[in-house]
Amino acid sequence: MRKTTLSSYNFSTILTNLQTQRPHFFLYQHPAYIDMLRVFFEKMQKDPFVVEHLTRLYEYDESTFYHSVDVGFLSVCFREIFQTENKEQFSEGSLLHDIGKLHIRHDVLTKEGKLTDSERLHMQEHTTHGYDMLQGHKNEYMCRLALHHHEHPEGVGYPFALQTEDMKFDYFLLRIMDEFSALTLDRCYRKGLPITQAINLITENMQSCLSSHDLNTLTALLQIIFSEDASYKEILNTFLLSKKETIKFAFKPKKITYAV
Ligand SMILES: [Fe+2]
Repeated sequence: MRKTTLSSYNFSTILTNLQTQRPHFFLYQHPAYIDMLRVFFEKMQKDPFVVEHLTRLYEYDESTFYHSVDVGFLSVCFREIFQTENKEQFSEGSLLHDIGKLHIRHDVLTKEGKLTDSERLHMQEHTTHGYDMLQGHKNEYMCRLALHHHEHPEGVGYPFALQTEDMKFDYFLLRIMDEFSALTLDRCYRKGLPITQAINLITENMQSCLSSHDLNTLTALLQIIFSEDASYKEILNTFLLSKKETIKFAFKPKKITYAV
């Protein structure tokens, strides 16, 4: 019998671990929010597919396991604030977004420093592996979250370099949570970055695909969700508890260049 499974692995143990890695992240200190996370976690514990795969991820690479749970937890906030296609499925798909990493060689997955070109291409395959692993178990929307979470609306992501018109905003939201989690949690070879530095890196990367109005709104929202500044607590509280209206964004249409 496996010692550690998601079902026996206690919610508070996981949350405490994430709180220790990102000590000033007040979203995970908020009692109302912790209740929402507990509901999500308990629901996932009842799903044999999720338990099996998250347990395998824990056994294969602990950092990827914590990162996956972290992204699942962040999605509970994102789905309340932004208009996602389906709230429950958005969170479940976010939790499972990296399960394809079970097919990535361990030395590549945990490599310290820059990957070689062939290692990078191998690592990128986790998106298509994730899609294949979810097929037949989860619906197409969740399979595609795993497949497209590294796409960028400017057509510079992978595995398909999707263009703006084929890019769902949900993929982009998942990409933002993924980047935030990856940058701010500890890895075996480095400590997580400070939250403000991570927000700056993420928003810089979005400048090209959103109108300045949407970019300002989204940046402000990310600061509210992610900031260490306790003065944002009340604003976030109102957002989470009121659940009045979700916010929808559209990508900026791409400039068409005509050949002369
Ligand atoms: Fe990924």
